[in-house]
Amino acid sequence: MNTPSAVRYSYRARWLHWVMAILIVLAYALILSRTQFARGSGLRAFAVQSHFWVGILVLTLAFFRVAERRRHTPPDITPPLEGFLRLAATASHYLLYAFLFAQPLLGLFTVLIEKGSLPIPLTDTLIPSPFPVSERFAESLEDLHKLLGSIFYYIIGLHVVAAIWHHFVRKDNTLKRMV
Ligand code: HEM
Ligand code: HEM
Repeated sequence: MNTPSAVRYSYRARWLHWVMAILIVLAYALILSRTQFARGSGLRAFAVQSHFWVGILVLTLAFFRVAERRRHTPPDITPPLEGFLRLAATASHYLLYAFLFAQPLLGLFTVLIEKGSLPIPLTDTLIPSPFPVSERFAESLEDLHKLLGSIFYYIIGLHVVAAIWHHFVRKDNTLKRMV
Protein backbone atom coordinates (compact mmCIF):
# COMPACT_ATOMS: atom_id res chain seq x y z
CA MET A 1 0.00 0.00 0.00
CA ASN A 2 2.86 2.35 0.83
CA THR A 3 5.02 1.71 -2.24
CA PRO A 4 5.01 4.50 -4.84
CA SER A 5 3.15 3.50 -8.00
CA ALA A 6 4.39 4.57 -11.42
CA VAL A 7 2.18 7.65 -11.04
CA ARG A 8 2.15 8.73 -7.39
CA TYR A 9 4.36 9.32 -4.35
CA SER A 10 4.02 6.61 -1.67
CA TYR A 11 0.98 6.89 0.60
CA ARG A 12 3.19 7.85 3.57
CA ALA A 13 5.03 10.55 1.55
CA ARG A 14 1.73 12.08 0.43
CA TRP A 15 0.28 11.93 3.95
CA LEU A 16 3.37 13.57 5.43
CA HIS A 17 3.47 16.25 2.73
CA TRP A 18 -0.10 17.43 3.27
CA VAL A 19 -0.23 17.05 7.07
CA MET A 20 3.04 18.98 7.40
CA ALA A 21 1.84 21.68 4.99
CA ILE A 22 -1.27 22.15 7.21
CA LEU A 23 0.86 22.21 10.38
CA ILE A 24 3.17 24.85 8.91
CA VAL A 25 0.21 27.08 8.00
CA LEU A 26 -1.09 26.53 11.54
CA ALA A 27 2.31 27.46 13.05
CA TYR A 28 2.28 30.73 11.07
CA ALA A 29 -1.38 31.44 11.94
CA LEU A 30 -0.85 30.85 15.68
CA ILE A 31 2.17 33.12 16.01
CA LEU A 32 0.68 35.87 13.86
CA SER A 33 -2.60 35.72 15.82
CA ARG A 34 -0.85 36.48 19.13
CA THR A 35 -1.09 40.23 18.56
CA GLN A 36 -4.89 39.93 18.69
CA PHE A 37 -4.70 39.08 22.40
CA ALA A 38 -3.64 41.32 25.28
CA ARG A 39 -0.08 40.97 26.58
CA GLY A 40 0.04 38.64 29.57
CA SER A 41 -3.39 37.11 28.77
CA GLY A 42 -3.97 33.36 28.87
CA LEU A 43 -5.09 33.30 25.23
CA ARG A 44 -1.88 34.98 24.07
CA ALA A 45 0.22 32.49 26.04
CA PHE A 46 -1.83 29.65 24.55
CA ALA A 47 -1.32 30.89 20.96
CA VAL A 48 2.44 31.34 21.45
CA GLN A 49 2.98 28.04 23.28
CA SER A 50 0.85 26.12 20.78
CA HIS A 51 3.06 27.66 18.07
CA PHE A 52 6.06 26.09 19.83
CA TRP A 53 4.47 22.63 19.94
CA VAL A 54 3.07 22.64 16.42
CA GLY A 55 6.61 23.55 15.29
CA ILE A 56 8.09 20.72 17.36
CA LEU A 57 5.63 18.32 15.71
CA VAL A 58 6.83 19.57 12.29
CA LEU A 59 10.42 18.88 13.35
CA THR A 60 9.54 15.35 14.53
CA LEU A 61 7.67 14.51 11.33
CA ALA A 62 10.56 15.91 9.25
CA PHE A 63 12.76 12.97 10.33
CA PHE A 64 10.11 10.47 9.19
CA ARG A 65 9.72 12.44 5.98
CA VAL A 66 13.40 12.26 5.07
CA ALA A 67 13.49 8.55 5.98
CA GLU A 68 10.50 7.93 3.69
CA ARG A 69 12.12 9.95 0.87
CA ARG A 70 15.29 7.85 1.15
CA ARG A 71 13.29 4.62 1.14
CA HIS A 72 11.22 5.44 -1.96
CA THR A 73 12.31 7.43 -5.01
CA PRO A 74 9.30 9.41 -6.34
CA PRO A 75 7.86 8.48 -9.73
CA ASP A 76 9.09 10.47 -12.75
CA ILE A 77 7.29 13.54 -14.01
CA THR A 78 5.83 13.12 -17.50
CA PRO A 79 6.82 14.79 -19.73
CA PRO A 80 10.20 14.93 -17.90
CA LEU A 81 11.68 18.20 -16.66
CA GLU A 82 14.88 19.31 -18.30
CA GLY A 83 17.68 21.82 -17.73
CA PHE A 84 16.83 24.84 -15.62
CA LEU A 85 13.38 23.60 -14.58
CA ARG A 86 14.81 20.37 -13.21
CA LEU A 87 17.52 22.28 -11.35
CA ALA A 88 15.05 24.81 -9.93
CA ALA A 89 12.72 22.03 -8.72
CA THR A 90 15.54 20.12 -7.02
CA ALA A 91 17.02 23.27 -5.43
CA SER A 92 13.65 24.43 -4.08
CA HIS A 93 12.93 20.98 -2.62
CA TYR A 94 16.30 20.97 -0.81
CA LEU A 95 15.49 24.45 0.55
CA LEU A 96 12.07 23.30 1.75
CA TYR A 97 13.56 20.26 3.46
CA ALA A 98 16.23 22.45 5.12
CA PHE A 99 13.46 24.77 6.36
CA LEU A 100 11.56 21.86 7.96
CA PHE A 101 14.53 21.30 10.26
CA ALA A 102 16.16 24.73 10.58
CA GLN A 103 13.03 26.75 11.40
CA PRO A 104 11.73 24.67 14.34
CA LEU A 105 15.26 24.12 15.68
CA LEU A 106 15.96 27.87 15.68
CA GLY A 107 12.64 28.48 17.47
CA LEU A 108 13.29 25.75 20.00
CA PHE A 109 16.82 27.00 20.81
CA THR A 110 15.45 30.55 21.10
CA VAL A 111 12.98 29.52 23.78
CA LEU A 112 15.34 27.22 25.69
CA ILE A 113 18.19 29.74 25.72
CA GLU A 114 16.02 32.80 26.40
CA LYS A 115 13.74 31.39 29.07
CA GLY A 116 15.66 28.40 30.41
CA SER A 117 12.62 26.14 29.90
CA LEU A 118 9.93 25.08 27.44
CA PRO A 119 6.31 25.54 28.62
CA ILE A 120 3.54 22.99 28.01
CA PRO A 121 0.30 24.79 26.97
CA LEU A 122 -2.63 24.80 29.46
CA THR A 123 -0.42 23.54 32.28
CA ASP A 124 2.12 25.04 34.66
CA THR A 125 4.67 22.46 33.59
CA LEU A 126 8.02 23.68 32.30
CA ILE A 127 10.52 21.36 30.61
CA PRO A 128 13.93 22.51 31.84
CA SER A 129 16.55 23.58 29.30
CA PRO A 130 19.90 21.79 29.15
CA PHE A 131 21.53 25.06 27.96
CA PRO A 132 22.65 28.12 29.94
CA VAL A 133 20.43 31.19 29.59
CA SER A 134 21.81 33.98 27.37
CA GLU A 135 19.44 36.74 26.37
CA ARG A 136 21.78 38.16 23.74
CA PHE A 137 22.37 34.85 22.00
CA ALA A 138 18.65 34.03 22.19
CA GLU A 139 17.87 37.38 20.58
CA SER A 140 20.14 36.59 17.61
CA LEU A 141 18.51 33.18 17.20
CA GLU A 142 15.06 34.75 17.37
CA ASP A 143 16.00 37.34 14.72
CA LEU A 144 17.19 34.53 12.46
CA HIS A 145 14.00 32.53 13.15
CA LYS A 146 11.87 35.54 12.21
CA LEU A 147 13.96 36.29 9.12
CA LEU A 148 13.70 32.69 7.89
CA GLY A 149 9.96 32.79 8.65
CA SER A 150 9.65 35.85 6.36
CA ILE A 151 11.86 34.45 3.57
CA PHE A 152 9.85 31.25 3.46
CA TYR A 153 6.60 33.03 2.70
CA TYR A 154 8.17 33.53 -0.73
CA ILE A 155 9.75 30.08 -1.09
CA ILE A 156 6.53 28.33 -0.07
CA GLY A 157 4.54 30.72 -2.28
CA LEU A 158 6.81 29.94 -5.23
CA HIS A 159 6.42 26.21 -4.55
CA VAL A 160 2.62 26.51 -4.62
CA VAL A 161 2.67 28.66 -7.79
CA ALA A 162 5.01 26.08 -9.41
CA ALA A 163 2.60 23.25 -8.53
CA ILE A 164 -0.31 25.18 -10.07
CA TRP A 165 1.78 26.08 -13.15
CA HIS A 166 2.72 22.42 -13.66
CA HIS A 167 -0.89 21.36 -13.45
CA PHE A 168 -2.67 24.03 -15.46
CA VAL A 169 -0.02 25.44 -17.81
CA ARG A 170 2.51 22.71 -18.45
CA LYS A 171 -0.27 20.11 -17.97
CA ASP A 172 2.07 17.45 -16.59
CA ASN A 173 1.47 14.99 -13.73
CA THR A 174 3.54 16.80 -11.02
CA LEU A 175 0.58 17.67 -8.80
CA LYS A 176 -1.34 14.44 -9.47
CA ARG A 177 1.67 12.51 -8.12
CA MET A 178 1.25 14.24 -4.75
CA VAL A 179 -2.54 13.85 -4.27
C1 HEM B 1 7.27 25.11 11.25
C2 HEM B 1 7.82 25.68 12.25
C3 HEM B 1 7.80 27.15 12.57
C4 HEM B 1 7.46 28.23 11.80
C5 HEM B 1 6.98 28.25 10.36
C6 HEM B 1 7.65 29.41 12.62
C7 HEM B 1 7.43 30.71 12.20
C8 HEM B 1 7.56 31.82 12.99
C9 HEM B 1 7.37 33.18 12.54
C10 HEM B 1 6.96 33.59 11.12
C11 HEM B 1 7.62 34.01 13.59
C12 HEM B 1 7.60 35.55 13.59
C13 HEM B 1 6.23 36.08 13.84
C14 HEM B 1 6.20 37.59 13.84
O1 HEM B 1 7.21 38.23 13.58
O2 HEM B 1 5.13 38.15 14.13
C15 HEM B 1 7.95 33.17 14.72
C16 HEM B 1 8.23 33.65 15.98
C17 HEM B 1 8.63 32.86 17.03
N1 HEM B 1 8.72 31.49 17.03
FE1 HEM B 1 8.40 30.24 15.47
N2 HEM B 1 8.08 29.01 13.86
C18 HEM B 1 8.19 27.65 13.87
C19 HEM B 1 8.58 26.86 14.94
C20 HEM B 1 8.89 27.31 16.20
C21 HEM B 1 9.26 26.48 17.33
C22 HEM B 1 9.37 24.95 17.29
C23 HEM B 1 9.49 27.31 18.38
C24 HEM B 1 9.87 26.99 19.80
C25 HEM B 1 9.80 25.80 20.37
C26 HEM B 1 9.27 28.67 17.92
C27 HEM B 1 9.43 29.80 18.70
C28 HEM B 1 9.19 31.09 18.27
C29 HEM B 1 9.39 32.27 19.11
C30 HEM B 1 9.89 32.29 20.56
C31 HEM B 1 9.03 33.38 18.33
C32 HEM B 1 9.04 34.86 18.76
C33 HEM B 1 7.68 35.13 19.36
C34 HEM B 1 7.49 36.54 19.85
O3 HEM B 1 8.15 37.46 19.35
O4 HEM B 1 6.63 36.71 20.72
N3 HEM B 1 8.90 28.63 16.59
N4 HEM B 1 7.91 31.86 14.33
C1 HEM C 1 4.16 24.59 3.87
C2 HEM C 1 3.93 24.12 2.77
C3 HEM C 1 4.73 23.12 1.97
C4 HEM C 1 5.96 22.54 2.14
C5 HEM C 1 6.94 22.79 3.26
C6 HEM C 1 6.18 21.63 1.03
C7 HEM C 1 7.32 20.87 0.84
C8 HEM C 1 7.55 20.03 -0.21
C9 HEM C 1 8.76 19.26 -0.45
C10 HEM C 1 10.00 19.26 0.45
C11 HEM C 1 8.59 18.55 -1.59
C12 HEM C 1 9.61 17.62 -2.23
C13 HEM C 1 9.19 16.18 -2.14
C14 HEM C 1 10.27 15.27 -2.68
O1 HEM C 1 10.28 14.99 -3.86
O2 HEM C 1 11.10 14.83 -1.89
C15 HEM C 1 7.29 18.88 -2.10
C16 HEM C 1 6.74 18.36 -3.25
C17 HEM C 1 5.56 18.79 -3.79
N1 HEM C 1 4.68 19.72 -3.25
FE1 HEM C 1 4.88 20.69 -1.54
N2 HEM C 1 5.08 21.68 0.20
C18 HEM C 1 4.18 22.57 0.75
C19 HEM C 1 2.94 22.92 0.27
C20 HEM C 1 2.45 22.52 -0.97
C21 HEM C 1 1.20 22.95 -1.56
C22 HEM C 1 0.20 23.90 -0.90
C23 HEM C 1 1.11 22.33 -2.79
C24 HEM C 1 0.04 22.45 -3.85
C25 HEM C 1 -0.58 23.49 -4.21
C26 HEM C 1 2.29 21.50 -2.95
C27 HEM C 1 2.55 20.71 -4.02
C28 HEM C 1 3.64 19.87 -4.16
C29 HEM C 1 3.85 19.00 -5.29
C30 HEM C 1 2.96 18.88 -6.52
C31 HEM C 1 5.06 18.31 -5.07
C32 HEM C 1 5.75 17.32 -6.00
C33 HEM C 1 6.83 18.05 -6.72
C34 HEM C 1 7.78 17.17 -7.49
O3 HEM C 1 7.87 15.98 -7.20
O4 HEM C 1 8.47 17.69 -8.36
N3 HEM C 1 3.08 21.64 -1.83
N4 HEM C 1 6.67 19.78 -1.24
